[in-house]
Order: sequence, then C-alpha cells, then structure tokens
Amino acid sequence: MHLTPSEELILNGEQGHVLQKAMEILAALGDIYDADRLIPVKSTQIAGVSYKNIGEAGLEWISGLSGTVKVPSILNPAGLDRMQWRELSIPEEFAAKQEAVIRAYESLGILPWCTCTPYEIRADLAMPGDHLAWSESSAVAYANSVIGARTNREGGPSALAAALIGKTPDYGYHLDRNRLPSIAIRVEGRLSGADYGALGYIAGAIAGSGVPIFSLESVPTNDERKALGAAMAASGAVALHYIEGAPPLPPTLPHPHPQPDRDMRDLDERITIEHAEIEEVYQAHRCDPDLIAIGCPHCSAAELVRLRDLLAGKTVTKEFWIFTSGIMRDRHPGLVAGIESSGAKVICDTCMVVSPFCERFSCIMVSSGKALSYVPQMCGSDAVLGSIEDCVRLAVTP
Ligand code: F3S
Repeated sequence: MHLTPSEELILNGEQGHVLQKAMEILAALGDIYDADRLIPVKSTQIAGVSYKNIGEAGLEWISGLSGTVKVPSILNPAGLDRMQWRELSIPEEFAAKQEAVIRAYESLGILPWCTCTPYEIRADLAMPGDHLAWSESSAVAYANSVIGARTNREGGPSALAAALIGKTPDYGYHLDRNRLPSIAIRVEGRLSGADYGALGYIAGAIAGSGVPIFSLESVPTNDERKALGAAMAASGAVALHYIEGAPPLPPTLPHPHPQPDRDMRDLDERITIEHAEIEEVYQAHRCDPDLIAIGCPHCSAAELVRLRDLLAGKTVTKEFWIFTSGIMRDRHPGLVAGIESSGAKVICDTCMVVSPFCERFSCIMVSSGKALSYVPQMCGSDAVLGSIEDCVRLAVTP
C-alpha cells in the first residue's frame, strides 16, 4: 500500500509510539487486503469495550495508549449499565474494571457512548457516501445498507487505529466493485417486526459473506432493516444488503466490470424463502423463558414508543429488560418512565449478550434474530424468538 510522506513519518515513529503502532496496524491490513492507499474516515465505532469480552489483557492494552482521536469516535456496548449496575447485581469488582476500560477510551478523546446504534445518536456520524471505520456488525450492516455509507467490519484494534490516524485502508466495502449484489433472495408473504430478524437468521446462513438483494412483498421500516441486517451478520457474515426498489441502490460500474476482491457468488444464484420457513424459526427454538429481553440492536425512539404503548396500564410478572443507549434514556425520560411504570427495566449502554448479567437465566425470549444466534453462544442460555407483542404478552402473563 502506498503511504504519503506524512504517513511514512508516522510509520517511522516520528509522532510517537502509539501512532506508529496504529499506522502499523493500518499498513498491515492494507497490505493483506491489497489496498492501494489510506482514505479519510468520517467517524469510528470501536468494539472491545465489555470487560466480559476483553478481560484484564484488553484493559491493560487500552490503558497503555495515549493521544487523541482525529475523528468523532464512539464505543460499542459495555458490560453494564453505568447508572444502575448495582440494581442488576453486577459485582463491584467487574464494575470497577468496566469503568476503567471506558475511562481509558475516554482519555483518548473517544465519546463514552456505548451503543451499537450510533446513527440514532448523531446522524452526522454517517451520511450517504461517507467512509467509516465501524466495528459492531449490526451497525456496519446498517451503515452500508440503510444509510449508504461505506465501512468494513473492523476489529476493535483496527477501528481504534483508524480513530487515532483518521484514516482506513481503501479496500472491501469502500470500493464500488465489492458493493454489487451477489445473490438474489425472493421472500414469499408479507413480513413485519421480528419476521425480519427471522428472515435474517435464515438468509445470513445462506448468503455467507455475500451481498444479498431481497425481493419483498412488504416494505420494511428502517428498524426492520436494522433487525434484518443484524441477524444476517450473526448467522452469516453479511455486511451489506439491498432491498429491490428501496434506496440506497447498488453502484453502477463502468464496463468491463472490475473483478470483486471477494469470492462473490454469481447473481444467477437466486433463491426463494417461503413464509413457512420464517414461521419455523419461531417454532424451532422452544424453552420456558425466565427473562424477556428486547433491544438487540439497541431500541430506537420509535421502538421505545411502541413498547410504552403496548405496556400501558399493564404490570409485568417476569423479568422484562429493554436495551437502548444511555443517550436515548437521557433524551426520552418520559418514554422510559412510561415503560418502567409497568415494572419493565430500561437498561442502557450494554446488552443481553455483552454483559455477564444474563448468564443466570436459563431461557431468554428475544425479538431479534441476532440475539437468537448469539445468546446460546455467549450467555449459555437457551433462546426463543417472539414478536414484540409476544414478548409483552408473556411478560404480563400471571
Ligand atoms: Fe447490539 Fe448487543 Fe445486539 S451489541 S446488536 S444489542 S448483541
């Protein structure tokens, strides 16, 4: 990869050891993926925040860094709600370690907002056509597929390196040639709500790392596309999808088409997913939930409104946890109070997968195809899929 003279100076350590290491990471990635240059990024979103996942070694590594990020940068969900971890029985020692991780990132100028939906907090973090270095797979899918920005699925260290340098190697989803659809998926029947998570659960396993383009009988909302993209990134490695007739559209390439870098399937590959297959996802996983958890990815304001309305005048009889960002809680105190008047808990800056507090439950009902994939792997609990209405119904059943 070609580096400019000023980038070479950083690589040679002229601006200190931390920036040298950051440039080494970017240069190595660029060489591996055959990038020809670094390109500026608009923002970064950095994974590797939950102390449950990174442990002492991660905390030590982050604490040893210094400097200031060059672009707006925010964090992935942490292992606890910073305001109400005591109420959720998080051990004091874990809380102290988690706080140290967040403070270490904050000392680098990173905003201590811990969410997988950064686009809900600040729209200017990702606008159509912007290049980004985001880590969390559902946020990556949303940025690429719904916003029309461009990002690869960064690891925590490469996103942090991009934040410190303000650039990322120009490869993968930054390039038009890798943003072409590679598999056409026709879906029979109309879908709504959690059906999109169930669809993603199936489609991700089929598409792998390809770029699906869906032909749908219903028009998904952005929250439903969020759920679809999140599930495909979990059951497969899909980072970009299209919906026929909906923006953003695939790029048009000059002829002859440059060859994509990845092993992409021929668009002649066309499959159909029947509505019965989507129904089967709800039926295939059965257990008796002792926790109901919504907000994977973190709830938007519209989803919180829906939950408040569904819970109005009701009292929950089971643990019912709703995840969103701390900024969303600060912006919508009335909504949160309305939900919590039912006895449900609004929990922020963390989630059922990256926190240790879900591990004590044996079966979790979720409304998310991504959580359906990850809860058994990451929490050791069984998981069952339900619509938001199913979740509320179960939560208030005596
Ligand atoms: Fe977000 Fe946690 Fe789900 S990070 S996408 S709520 S697994």
